[in-house]
Amino acid sequence: MKRNILITGGAGFIGSHVVRLFVNKYPDYNIVNLDKLTYAGNLENLKDIESAPNYAFVKADIADLDEMRRVVVEHKIDGIIHLAAESHVDRSIKDPFTFARTNVMGTLSLLQAAREYWESLPEKYDGKLFYHISTDEVYGALELTAPEGIESPFTTVASSEHHHAYGEDFFLETTKYDPHSPYSASKASSDHFVRAYHDTYGMPTVVTNCSNNYGPYQFPEKLIPLFINNIRHHKPLPVYGKGENVRDWLYVEDHARAIDLIFHKGKIAETYNIGGFNEWKNIDIIKVIIKTVDRLLGNPEGYSDELITYVTDRAGHDLRYAIDSRKLQRELGWEPSLQFEEGIERTVKWYLENQEWMDRITSGAYEQYYESMYAKR
Ligand code: NAD
Ligand code: TYD
Repeated sequence: MKRNILITGGAGFIGSHVVRLFVNKYPDYNIVNLDKLTYAGNLENLKDIESAPNYAFVKADIADLDEMRRVVVEHKIDGIIHLAAESHVDRSIKDPFTFARTNVMGTLSLLQAAREYWESLPEKYDGKLFYHISTDEVYGALELTAPEGIESPFTTVASSEHHHAYGEDFFLETTKYDPHSPYSASKASSDHFVRAYHDTYGMPTVVTNCSNNYGPYQFPEKLIPLFINNIRHHKPLPVYGKGENVRDWLYVEDHARAIDLIFHKGKIAETYNIGGFNEWKNIDIIKVIIKTVDRLLGNPEGYSDELITYVTDRAGHDLRYAIDSRKLQRELGWEPSLQFEEGIERTVKWYLENQEWMDRITSGAYEQYYESMYAKR
């Protein structure tokens, strides 16, 4: 079936994996990647598919309502996968307004543009979908009731061999929203707007809330790529607080596969949590990263341990995130494909083998890529 799908934020980390998957897997779909190319957007993430006949790129700001109206009409969009967002908690603490503008007003502008266009068509909302990508951070923070870790009651392929849970509670789709950071508050607000457009106007929507992603093409302000790059340059590794905060890590391609499945098979108006039952204390994951990078660089074991530097904690730092993704498993049969140990090995190798990608980001060169690419044509 022919479809015209708008993917927002496709030049970012997760979006680039989703764009690549859809462009390669669905030659009959037209994939329009809409991205403002903020500091986090990098078209070099999509070099391998940029000339595909079913791919187009539009540089635009989701908060520009007139531009969103124009794009959905011009490309006759019938499905939207919305990933564009400001995504880094530390930046949201410094500059909350940008997060409200992009994440709240941007999502609202996109919803409104889709609503006006779809309501103008004879078939209206038939065969349409607005799929909003959100985060587990909207649920707030869980207690660390088992600081040493207990055997996790659940398991998936993604669960690490160490297989720990650090508390008895998990985020469910029904967990009450309780965001703490400006980032999670803005994502929570955007989730509410998406559900309101379903409840008020009958727009077909789906929302998914995913745990922390890791893998290739992640911007090196986030824990894993930042630390891999710092180890490579023998620079300090800033561990916030005591390093005891717990995150639930999922390989990015498994998230992209879940998005594909939910886009095609998810039930309208539903929420699905996505995660791999793979909880790690920051300090433990940092030790795994150090060990893996040192081994792959040929450094003696323990060589980079001295780089661990405890620094002032992040303000309002959520203690523990842990997703219960059994609904998605049960209803749509989704399973992660990769175990954590394999995923982290692949990830570290990718960053070490793609040092040029990293260096072009840290030097700022990537930001000129779009301009030069289009100037040449
Ligand atoms: P990212 O920061 O790597 O990418 C965001 C992309 O959005 C960038 O390409 C950026 O240029 C673009 N963008 C930002 N503001 C824009 C605007 N106003 N208009 C158009 N484009 C704009 O983020 P990511 O980690 O890939 O996250 C993607 C989505 O997934 C976000 O909605 C995020 O909340 C959600 N999410 C992320 C994680 C994670 O671990 N990274 C986990 C769960 C959910
Ligand atoms: P991050 O990758 O920013 O993701 P999020 O805040 O969305 O979970 O951070 C992951 C964890 O690592 C989080 O608990 C904060 C911590 N952290 C550090 O200890 N040092 C750092 O330099 C960074 C970026 C994060």
